[in-house]
Amino acid sequence: MEVHSHDVLMIGGGGAGLRAAIAIAEVDPRLKIAVASKVYPMRSHTVSAEGGAAGVIKPDDSIDEHIYDTISGGDWLSDQDAVEAFVNEAPQELLRLEHWGCPWNREADGAVAVRAFGGMKKKRTWFAADKTGFHLLHTLFQTSLKYTHITRYDEWFVTRLLHDGERVQGVVAIHLMTGRIQAILAKSVIICTGGCGRVFPFTTNANIKNGDGMALAYRAGAPLKDMEFIQYHPTGLPFTGILITEAARAEGGYLINKDGYRYLQDYNLGAPQDKPVLRSMELGPRDRLSQAFVKEFEKGRTIDTPYGAVVHLDIRHLGEKLINARIPFVRELCLKYENIDPAKELIPVRPVVHYMMGGVHTDIEGATPLLGLYAAGEAACVSINGANRLGSNSLTEILVFGARAGRAAAQFALEAAPPDSGMLAQAEDEERRLQEVFLHKTGGRESIAGLRGEMQTVMEKSVGIYREEKLLSEAASRIAELQERFRDIVITDHSHTFNTELTAAVELSYMLDVAEAMVACALNRTESRGAHQRTDYPDRNDEKFLAHSLVVRSGDGTPQVSLLPVTITRWPPAERVYGK
Ligand code: FUM
Repeated sequence: MEVHSHDVLMIGGGGAGLRAAIAIAEVDPRLKIAVASKVYPMRSHTVSAEGGAAGVIKPDDSIDEHIYDTISGGDWLSDQDAVEAFVNEAPQELLRLEHWGCPWNREADGAVAVRAFGGMKKKRTWFAADKTGFHLLHTLFQTSLKYTHITRYDEWFVTRLLHDGERVQGVVAIHLMTGRIQAILAKSVIICTGGCGRVFPFTTNANIKNGDGMALAYRAGAPLKDMEFIQYHPTGLPFTGILITEAARAEGGYLINKDGYRYLQDYNLGAPQDKPVLRSMELGPRDRLSQAFVKEFEKGRTIDTPYGAVVHLDIRHLGEKLINARIPFVRELCLKYENIDPAKELIPVRPVVHYMMGGVHTDIEGATPLLGLYAAGEAACVSINGANRLGSNSLTEILVFGARAGRAAAQFALEAAPPDSGMLAQAEDEERRLQEVFLHKTGGRESIAGLRGEMQTVMEKSVGIYREEKLLSEAASRIAELQERFRDIVITDHSHTFNTELTAAVELSYMLDVAEAMVACALNRTESRGAHQRTDYPDRNDEKFLAHSLVVRSGDGTPQVSLLPVTITRWPPAERVYGK
């Protein structure tokens, strides 16, 4: 087996991975840095982020207001020390991106332009039209190129963390072009693999978002945190699930039901129809807007389509000039995928799985309880997002916590001993496992697509916008059954070059672990908070659940859930109030 050695390895080459790599390069130019990504970095999911990145920049705004909006938006489940660090460092990270070449939109006087975003009571979302993720990722990628000591492993798929039970010391990965299975040793490893939206059937997430890093950490013994908090974005295109950015509403778009009525005024979200105010109605937080959609559906006020019930997003009144200048991608997507021109027609939209608030449990420096293992971005749960992330906090999060995790992992690597020789035996075990379970497998009765489809259906039915004990218990049994049936999968492709059947099988195994953790946490949390709404426990219960869910994999492979108190600094729990 070929073995590569580095000081710090990033798994994932999206925004968090590249920001971390740059931060490490800046700590010490002698550090040997590696970025392993299953796709070419510019194809990472960061590229599809649209609306913008939050950071206080205008004189009428303040750090404390951004902190409060984030904490209240997260229904008091965010760790307040983490939110304080995040909000304080956000503006300097966004300015750094500016210096590296990110083309932020400008006001007429040349100042950075900001737009409103859901749940933010001041305008503080920096943007590059509605292709912010593309520009941000491009900026990070081109900046990373100037550090020649960053080695890239593009199209390498990580299947296992190498560790001795206490310290992570590298990974095993498949070079997808040749099928060669190799070890990449490192003194520290940062998981930056993004989220896991593909556990659900209808999502804005790219096909690559399968919870790889979460499952890798979980299997290695690291806890996952707050896995029950899954964000539905209120405006996805039916059928494809493609995101219609919140920026469309920030620029003045309305959500209307089948009667042409701005129904959000009925949901205690905002001001009267004739006096819309920032942070109300369409700019309420995502959890509340998605819940309002379900209520409209139950009242029979949505519109039936072949791809499910929808409401309409109306941006016609904004005019072609503004649409083309500020949200051109919305128009492009509607034309290409719905054959409608939103400057003249209504856009059909419905809630769609968008983001994972939970992830690998880390501290404020991105460190997990396993030595040498760090995580950042959507794969991680620090937690700043609590029970419901505010739109535009996540692009900034990958910068702030990508950089923090990078610096911490660099420091660890500078002081750590080299990986021990036992790691090679473990890597060879993993090679054998991949061959036995997948590559040389014959027979079997279960198709990958069949099992994946069943998992997605169960998750949508039971762990969607509203949940209840009975459906969650059923989901727990169904996912356990799917885990069992997975042993009997059919693999017909035994070739070595870009074997997508092999990667799909491993990805499905990751998603099943992540799904199991989500269901266990959702069952355990007998309250309603943010994106976790239990119809059988409709109230928030701070006495018992002002706490994160931590889930670890027990010896028999089943998830074990415990609670970890939330860190409160200056903002005691209060009611979430919007729009008045
Ligand atoms: O609607 C959006 O542009 C999404 C932004 C986000 O999830 O932060």
